Amino acid sequence: MSSLRVSLAALCCAFVVFAGTISVSYGQLDPSFYKKSCPKVHAIVREVVDNALDSDPRIGASLVRLHFHDCFVQGCDASILLNKTDTIDSEQDAFPNVDSIRGLDVVNNIKTAVEEACPATVSCADILALAAEVSVILTEGNGWKVPLGRRDSTTANRTLANSNLPAPSSNLTELKAAFLVQGLDTTDLVALSGAHTFGRSHCRNFQDRVYNFSNTGQPDPNLNTTYLQTLSGICPQDGDGSNLANLDPTTPDTFDKNYYNNLQLQNGLLNSDQVLFSTSGADTVAIVNSFAANQTLFFKQFAASMIKMGNISPLTGTQGEIRSQCNFVNSDSSRLKAVASTKESDHDVLVSSI
Ligand code: HEM
Ligand SMILES: *[C@@H]1O[C@H](CO)[C@@H](O)[C@H](O)[C@H]1NC(C)=O
Ligand SMILES: *[C@@H]1O[C@H](CO)[C@@H](O)[C@H](O)[C@H]1NC(C)=O
Ligand SMILES: *[C@@H]1O[C@H](CO)[C@@H](O)[C@H](O)[C@H]1NC(C)=O
Ligand SMILES: *[C@@H]1O[C@H](CO)[C@@H](O)[C@H](O)[C@H]1NC(C)=O
Ligand SMILES: *[C@@H]1O[C@H](CO)[C@@H](O)[C@H](O)[C@H]1NC(C)=O
Ligand SMILES: *[C@@H]1O[C@H](CO)[C@@H](O)[C@H](O)[C@H]1NC(C)=O
Repeated sequence: MSSLRVSLAALCCAFVVFAGTISVSYGQLDPSFYKKSCPKVHAIVREVVDNALDSDPRIGASLVRLHFHDCFVQGCDASILLNKTDTIDSEQDAFPNVDSIRGLDVVNNIKTAVEEACPATVSCADILALAAEVSVILTEGNGWKVPLGRRDSTTANRTLANSNLPAPSSNLTELKAAFLVQGLDTTDLVALSGAHTFGRSHCRNFQDRVYNFSNTGQPDPNLNTTYLQTLSGICPQDGDGSNLANLDPTTPDTFDKNYYNNLQLQNGLLNSDQVLFSTSGADTVAIVNSFAANQTLFFKQFAASMIKMGNISPLTGTQGEIRSQCNFVNSDSSRLKAVASTKESDHDVLVSSI
């Protein structure tokens, strides 16, 4: 199914152009960065993600989240992809990421396919940005022109991942602050939280709302009582918190505006979701209502806010490097160990790019 869709996309609609009042700045990046050096990169990313979705309908959500968790920690530089080594304190071991982030294998599959077509050209940071956009398209959302030209970091920062990534228990003040330090405003916060229209959360991230909100021994009063019953079935009180619930109980694998309609019914899963609507007098309530009423508006703002998030402190020009293996910096000898343990087909690609 994927090859037909890919070729159609390449012909007519790889990029969705949008007009309107939402302004977009590409910063130092450029959607046509690989036009000459790797013209098929978008189609290649799309095909690999499309194939991955066939066996895992959640993977699009996981890839969107990877880009977010990359960008909020020393910028969109693929630092999240660096594995633990003697010199790398991996962000994958930070609390928001450990036993939680997914899709590293799919990113590596994309990288292998892209290296085959255009060796040593496309950064892992750009692959994350493209994979996020393609994931939204393939789950019934709208795409956008992805600004490109990021380069990959030679460092990672686990401490910074712990401090910069907002917690699901955050209140609205904390959420706004976490976005503001990244240059993202309240509209960006509400629009980007709409990514919780697909994917899953472990019970541990919202269990307190079901059984013991703010240590009151009672459920969160802003949690719909019917939804509360559903969630207590998914997350037993004496459980270890490892069960999964859909972030959007209505259309769990579809990119749509239902997240906002859920918030209006007190059917938001995380505290950080529901506070956007339930904090009394907050300026976020009107924004939630506007997206709940108009999916076109949400899609336009989501695209603009993703571009803005994708512009956070990129490495460009001669900064950083183009990694040959996304999990290791080029100078890291651990990479050679990885080469030795990789499949033969990957092996050839890696060796040819050394
Ligand atoms: C506003 C602050 C945010 C908080 C507190 C937050 C927190 C969380 C948590 C706790 C999970 C579940 C993780 C797990 O249980 O393994 C999650 C999942 C997810 N988040 Fe967020 N998030 C936020 C914003 C965002 C943003 C800005 C995006 C992307 C633009 C995003 C995309 C996702 C996606 C797609 C999933 C599902 C991932 C999967 O199923 O693999 N989140 N988030
Ligand atoms: C990098 O670490 C992840 C776990 O965080 C692991 O699944 C993956 O296999 C590692 N990649 C390589 C190439 O060693
Ligand atoms: C990680 O980030 C913190 C906070 O910005 C900084 O103080 C620290 O030096 C960084 N560590 C590394 C290894 O870059
Ligand atoms: C949000 O949490 C902070 C602590 O991080 C607290 O100081 C503040 O009072 C809380 N704000 C609201 C509105 O509850
Ligand atoms: C709620 O949490 C507090 C603090 O962890 C604890 O002391 C209390 O016993 C809990 N209440 C219930 C009903 O679990
Ligand atoms: C709770 O959710 C149901 C649908 O799931 C909805 O019909 C009901 O109105 C909601 N209750 C409140 C108080 O929003
Ligand atoms: C929905 O939002 C779009 C984009 O801003 C706008 O063009 C359209 O008029 C809106 N539709 C309604 C019914 O308000």
